[in-house]
Amino acid sequence: MKTIIDRCGMLLLSASLLMTATGLRAAEADEAMRARGQTLYTEQMCNLCHTRDGESGPMAHVGGSLDGLAAKRDAAWIERYLRDPQAVIPSSQMPKSTLTDQQLAELIAFLLGS
Ligand code: HEC
Repeated sequence: MKTIIDRCGMLLLSASLLMTATGLRAAEADEAMRARGQTLYTEQMCNLCHTRDGESGPMAHVGGSLDGLAAKRDAAWIERYLRDPQAVIPSSQMPKSTLTDQQLAELIAFLLGS
């Protein structure tokens, strides 16, 4: 009887260790996504027209702040907007994105990250 209980305990323990490891790997993957998104944000010069995290470009008054974006927009909205800004906000002066699906996902992960 005891051994069965012990074994169950071991099984539960290994299952929870496995879940922790999987969770950590998922967290690392999210972190890597955001890091690539941050690089894209810099490369695409989003900073030119926006402020984020205390950094702003010379035309930051044009696009305004992207801080706290997650409270206002979700990933689907941002994706639609980045692909074709004028289709979502007709008066927007923001250029269309030429990024791939994967790159857009990375950029959005970064934008929603804080
Ligand atoms: C030429 C200037 C310019 C550049 C470069 C630019 N934006 Fe914008 N962005 C704007 C303008 C203008 C708006 C619209 C503001 C409005 O009318 O509400 C905007 C709005 C946004 C919004 C919506 C904000 C909201 O809450 O409504 C997001 C998200 C955004 N930009 C992300 C980006 C990203 C990511 C990049 C880089 C790929 C980028 N922008 C590059 C000018 C720019």
